[in-house]
Amino acid sequence: MTLSGLPDQASLPPGPTRLELGWLRRIWPILRPHTASVIFSFSVGVVALVLQVAVPAIVGTTIDESIASDNQPLQGFLIALAVIGMARGVLLVIYRYGLYRMAYSVEADLRQTMFRHYTTLSHSFYDRMQSGQLISRAQSDVRAVQLFFAVAPLILTAVLSFFIAMTVMLRTNVLLTLVAVAPLPFVYVVGILLRNRLFPLSWIIQGRQAEVATVTEESIAGVRVVQSFAAEGSRVTEMAKAARGLRWANVQQGDVRARFAPLLENLPRLGSLAVLVYGGWLVIDGQLEIGAIIQFNAYILMLQIPFRFLGFFLILGQRARASSERIFEVLDETPEITDPEQPVDLPVPKGRVEMSGVQFGYGSGPDVLRDLDLVISAGETVAIVGGTGSGKSTVGRLLSRFYDPRDGTITLDGVNIADLKVSRLRELIVVAPDEPFLFSVPVRDNLAFGRPGVDQAEIEAAARAVDAHEFILNLEHGYSTVVGERGYTLSGGQRQRIALGRALLVDPAVLVLDDATSAIDVEVEARIHDALRVRRDGRTTILVAHRLSTIGLADRVIFLVDGSVKATGTHAELLRRVPEYATVLAHDIDLTPDTDLTPDTELAGTEGSQE
Ligand SMILES: Nc1ncnc2c1ncn2[C@@H]1O[C@H](COP(=O)(O)OP(=O)(O)O)[C@@H](O)[C@H]1O
Ligand SMILES: [Mg+2]
Repeated sequence: MTLSGLPDQASLPPGPTRLELGWLRRIWPILRPHTASVIFSFSVGVVALVLQVAVPAIVGTTIDESIASDNQPLQGFLIALAVIGMARGVLLVIYRYGLYRMAYSVEADLRQTMFRHYTTLSHSFYDRMQSGQLISRAQSDVRAVQLFFAVAPLILTAVLSFFIAMTVMLRTNVLLTLVAVAPLPFVYVVGILLRNRLFPLSWIIQGRQAEVATVTEESIAGVRVVQSFAAEGSRVTEMAKAARGLRWANVQQGDVRARFAPLLENLPRLGSLAVLVYGGWLVIDGQLEIGAIIQFNAYILMLQIPFRFLGFFLILGQRARASSERIFEVLDETPEITDPEQPVDLPVPKGRVEMSGVQFGYGSGPDVLRDLDLVISAGETVAIVGGTGSGKSTVGRLLSRFYDPRDGTITLDGVNIADLKVSRLRELIVVAPDEPFLFSVPVRDNLAFGRPGVDQAEIEAAARAVDAHEFILNLEHGYSTVVGERGYTLSGGQRQRIALGRALLVDPAVLVLDDATSAIDVEVEARIHDALRVRRDGRTTILVAHRLSTIGLADRVIFLVDGSVKATGTHAELLRRVPEYATVLAHDIDLTPDTDLTPDTELAGTEGSQE
């Protein structure tokens, strides 16, 4: 089979020419804790093996000494065989149990390592990667590695049994042994050929499994969008495409295996045939006892095992290697956002935020923020206003350090935010997003997400502050109600209120509400803001606003155009001074909930407040 015409060929690793063991070295830290138990079960396996090799020898002797002749009584041999058989059975149970326990522990540890690593990776990594890819690497790739470790020791004992049986055979008759094993080198050559064809295929298969996982994951997670656009057909087509791709690679693999399996299985049988012919001639000639032929035939069955499973073992080995490469590709990703070596603490945060000369773009993309300067005093409530894509949300993402700026500095109370521990920074500055993500856990736990273990009274106080207490009590089980996946059993406004409560419980010095009240009624929003003020006097609040009513809650407006601050001042000032501001408001601001209010009458009260 050739691989020409394969779409993925460019991304293939170079084909293996020899057994690559580098990946085993990399996985060693995960294996190391199991060394003692592996050595123990392996020793048990070796004892079982010696007993296994002893059986044909005893059978051969039984035939020669008690059946063909009458030199010794049969009874003794039979008892010995029964005892050996039972002992071997018990030992094999212990051996296999030990192996599987090790393999499943490796699987669990590896998955845990990956998962822990996933949690450290930055937003920029998740922007690039599809979650289906990440899920499949933590699932099927980890399983492929586990399977290898479950089977590899079994193959190793089979190889050992090969050598022990060989030794016994050589001591019986050298020439007959050579005749018996003559086909085995061919088995090895065929095995190598097989491996060279399988490796690229197993790489492709793992990749395509991940594609199928991605389509599945996105179609299920996005099922509401799919159905509302009646796009079921195109998703099904997408899945069919991914499934066809996977089927193609699997069929190719099946084809390779189908061609090679008969060769790999039958080549050793030629050895049995040769033993019968040549051994039979030796017996007739009186140079060999009949028991030796029986013994040899049993040994050839044993000799075949490593060779028969060689193909399977090679497939597992190649797959485990391809999978481990995919696993290490992710594990080698270093988190971009890390703690500073010598973190500074801010024991009494005030909440003064300053960005100066900030330059930022996503990945290698164009600049999204250009030379951005802004100062927000401690305790101030400001609204960031700007057209869609002007960089409002990006400002929030930089403040909580989901990304680092390309240039410029961001400080909190005069301390560069990169000098704070990341976890501390994220207690100090919290962003509540417009599309909150809720977990399928009780409402209470969703609220306490940032402070697990906080008491019910505090949870309820936060829920009251965000006007959520009433509706939560009306849920089927109150605070214990498990919300559906991603909170879809709640309305958009209810989800937003829970997300606000969650942010509030952390009690940050700087709270960024990134359109976080967009689905909440105007009066309720005003009530929430009053409550926020009461709860923490002097909290800095940054509102990314899309509604005049929200802008009206701010002391001051920062007007963003194309990633830099175009103007700042009160809403009324900006309306007067900056013609572009009025244009953006007219185009971008959602006037529907409060069309009866003109900007001037609504915001008259804030006129002349602080700059
Ligand atoms: N994760 C991302 N990866 C690449 N580009 C992004 C990402 N998030 C936002 N952008 C781009 O950055 C620009 C600013 O986005 P954003 O700050 O979300 O705007 P908005 O002012 O609407 O909140 C937009 O052009 C957007 O396409
Ligand atoms: Mg936004």
